Formats: sequence, C-alpha cells, structure tokens
Amino acid sequence: MAPPPSFSSLLLFLSLLSVSSVFCSNFYNDFEITWGNDRAKILNNGDLLTLSLDRGSGSGFQSKNVYLYGKIDMQLKLVPGNSAGTVTTYYLKSQGSTWDEIDFEFLGNLSGDPYTLHTNVYTQGKGDREQQFHLWFDPTSDFHTYSILWNPQGIIFSVDGTPIRKFKNHESSGVLFPKKQPMRLYSSLWNADDWATRGGLVKTDWSKAPFTASYRNFNADVCVWSGGVSSCSSGGNVGGRGWLSENLDITRQQRMKWVQRNYMIYNYCTDAKRFPQGYPPECAIAP
Ligand SMILES: *[C@@H]1O[C@H](CO)[C@@H](O)[C@H](O)[C@H]1NC(C)=O
Repeated sequence: MAPPPSFSSLLLFLSLLSVSSVFCSNFYNDFEITWGNDRAKILNNGDLLTLSLDRGSGSGFQSKNVYLYGKIDMQLKLVPGNSAGTVTTYYLKSQGSTWDEIDFEFLGNLSGDPYTLHTNVYTQGKGDREQQFHLWFDPTSDFHTYSILWNPQGIIFSVDGTPIRKFKNHESSGVLFPKKQPMRLYSSLWNADDWATRGGLVKTDWSKAPFTASYRNFNADVCVWSGGVSSCSSGGNVGGRGWLSENLDITRQQRMKWVQRNYMIYNYCTDAKRFPQGYPPECAIAP
C-alpha cells in the first residue's frame, strides 16, 4: 500500500535535509586548527571561525581533505581599523618541493586606506605570477565571498561572484598547469610588517592587537583525493555543464575586464623591468 501523500512528502523532506547537510559547511567537520593555540576559534556550533594575531603569534587552519580540482567559496570579514602590517591568507597548496599553489592574500592597511588583494599561481614550485587589486567595497565592514574555481580548463579567482583573474590552462603552449598534485586549503592571519603595507614602510600597531579576521559559509564542490582515488561531488559534470567544465561566458569576461581596468594595481604581465628577457609565455597568449 502506498503511504499517504503527507508521509511521502515527509520522506522527501527528510532526504533533502540529509543531502543538504552533506554540503552544509561546518568548520568542525571540514577544518582543523593548525597553529596559534586559542587564537583560532570555531564558534556558533561550527558556523563561524575566527583567527587572531597578537605580538606572540598569528594563527591558522587547514582543510582536513585534499582536493584535485574544486570550486571553493569562503566568506571572509577582514581585520578592521588599522590592519597595517597584517596579512590574511587563503590558498590551496600541494606538498613537496615542486608544489602547486593558488593564492589569495589580503594585505592590511591604515584605517581608511585600501586593502590590497594579492593573487598568485605556482606550478611545480614556480610562482612569480602576481596580480594585485584594490576592492570596490570595504572588506572589513561585512563578510564577502572569495572563490577559487580550479578545473582542467583553468583557474578563476572571484570576489562576490565577480571574476577578477583567470589563469587559463595553456599546456598546449608549454605552460605548466596544476593538474596532478592534490591541494589542501589553508588560511592564516600573521604579521608581515617587514613587507606587507607600502612595501614595509608602515608597521603593525600592536596597541590595536589582537587583530581578528572571521570566516563563515565555506562551500565546496570538490573532488576529494584519498588513497590515490578522486571522488567528485555530484554536479561536477552534469551533462558536461557542471563546475568541472565551467568557464567564463561573455558577460563574466566583461565583468572581469571591468575589474581589471578599474581595480588592478599590479600585473606581472606588464612589469617590463622585472622580465627584461621577455614576459612569461602565458602573458603573450590571449586569456
Ligand atoms: C595602502 O594604502 C596606500 C595609500 O592609499 C596604497 O598605495 C596601498 O596600495 C595600500 N595597500 C597596501 C597593502 O599598502
């Protein structure tokens, strides 16, 4: 006998609940605190994580899983007020001396002066691909979403859904692309006043310590790498249209150009002094 409709809809409701709980972020489940002792805290039953920095130490955490491709979103609220000298990092990195790495770093500033969002991509231990941006909002007054899409086609950095940088897979032109080494997600808050703010001119004001950055709403569509096997979250490949094959459509390409025209403050691909022998090959190829 078929169950009455109310019962089957309850079943459907319950199964939806269990599916969504799999994807719902919980910092206790997904991350571990790796340094800084009680300067890093998981709060609100796992919904919120805070890192702090004082004269004694910074703090940091890392994902429990390693990923081989993923679409990762995290909401961050950066150190408010005078954050000069502080650096908040949020990046993917593999192990070993020929590691791959995809970086977001937030360089603090004096009150009222803009943060610098620094990005870089390392392939097999070699980086030197910095692009830096100012943001079109105050990243300390509220949470904003910072995303890394890493799939076989390329790497896209986004802020609140707006792409700011793309590192296309140019293997066919001989440019190395990260695709074999699984990466872990790391984040930290630390003191870098020897270089971070105005190239090290502005020092950390320790009278304002502790400095605190907050994290919430981690969301990951990923292929988790474990024991040599990769298992991808559903939706990666639906009809060849999931995140594993996602790319920028024309509208999002135009948004990215808008950001780069108006907010990019440094691009290694236009720094002639740094590359007297010629720019790295990916700079010459159309993105
Ligand atoms: C800090 O503010 C100055 C002045 O607006 C700006 O030139 C610089 O890019 C900002 N960011 C850092 C990290 O120094």
